[in-house]
Amino acid sequence: MNILVTGATGLIGSALMSRLASTGHHCLPLRRGAAVGNEPGPIWNPESGLIRLETAGPLEAVIHLAGENIAQRWTAAAKARIRSSRVDATRLLCEALTRLPQPPRVVVCASATGYYGDRGDEVLAEDSSPGQGFLAEVCQSWEAATEPARLCGMRVVHLRVGIVLARRGGALAKMLPAFRLGLGGRLGTGRQFWSWICLEDLIRVIELALGEESLNGAVNAVSPAAVTNTQFTHALAQAIGRPALLPMPAIAVKLLLGEMGREALLGSARVRPARLIESGFVFRFPELGAALNHTLGSPDS
Ligand SMILES: NC(=O)c1ccc[n+]([C@@H]2O[C@H](COP(=O)([O-])OP(=O)(O)OC[C@H]3O[C@@H](n4cnc5c(N)ncnc54)[C@H](OP(=O)(O)O)[C@@H]3O)[C@@H](O)[C@H]2O)c1
Repeated sequence: MNILVTGATGLIGSALMSRLASTGHHCLPLRRGAAVGNEPGPIWNPESGLIRLETAGPLEAVIHLAGENIAQRWTAAAKARIRSSRVDATRLLCEALTRLPQPPRVVVCASATGYYGDRGDEVLAEDSSPGQGFLAEVCQSWEAATEPARLCGMRVVHLRVGIVLARRGGALAKMLPAFRLGLGGRLGTGRQFWSWICLEDLIRVIELALGEESLNGAVNAVSPAAVTNTQFTHALAQAIGRPALLPMPAIAVKLLLGEMGREALLGSARVRPARLIESGFVFRFPELGAALNHTLGSPDS
């Protein structure tokens, strides 16, 4: 397949590019940047609303992963970047796809379990209502921004991705230094659910979404075993053989990380991958302990 990939340099995108290339696909990264002279390749500069895809050649699929990283203090300017890099950029991309002489058949677009907001121990499937808060609002608008592609007949899959377990980046990589020093611990009450997925399984989910015609619309990209933050803390401490004795009270999380900490770390989303299970997808790492052991022991993750 000829596949255009945005966000190809990111945590998920770089692993995905290697995997797709090794399975015989032709992947074209759509990197941000200004047009340089008469450069022939595709152009994408979402901040200035510039896009040119006609030179990308015939595309069968698009995987859209680009977006400003959310792991930062959510100042007003950061929130504007986080929102616009998803909502405006997705609309720009999808509108450009509709103008191609031969639009791709499928667009796989990242979204996040943040869609559901802070929901205690309610089990959340794809048809659950959206939640409230900044992330929930961004995710709803992000998904809605693909509407031009859907109306033009493309199959659009919104992957509501949970916490991606990877050694080289993302939440786990940020937690590891403190845990390795024995300074890890639960956050707040520790009762909030964290829905997670091993990077390797997420790449397999994206591959499935490319080819499986029955997958359309929202798909929860999480393992079937969401855990509480306390369970996550114990599993991580066990995986690296260190104690995790230093809980961080909710007030400290909020003081240190502000609204981002409140929503992304203290919020609770117990998400079930109902559509993946219906489609027969078999997780290689459905349980957290094995997923952590694999992730921490694998040089590629
Ligand atoms: N990792 C997770 O745990 C997780 C969980 C849920 C959802 N997701 C979502 O999945 C997608 C990919 O995640 P990731 O972890 O691979 O993200 P990442 O490592 O932060 O990479 C995202 C990529 O997006 C592009 N990008 C960065 N800032 C941008 C901006 N201001 N405007 C437009 N593009 C920008 C960059 O690619 P270029 O420089 O090549 O353009 C960057 O490499 C994101 O949309 C993220 O929200 C991730």
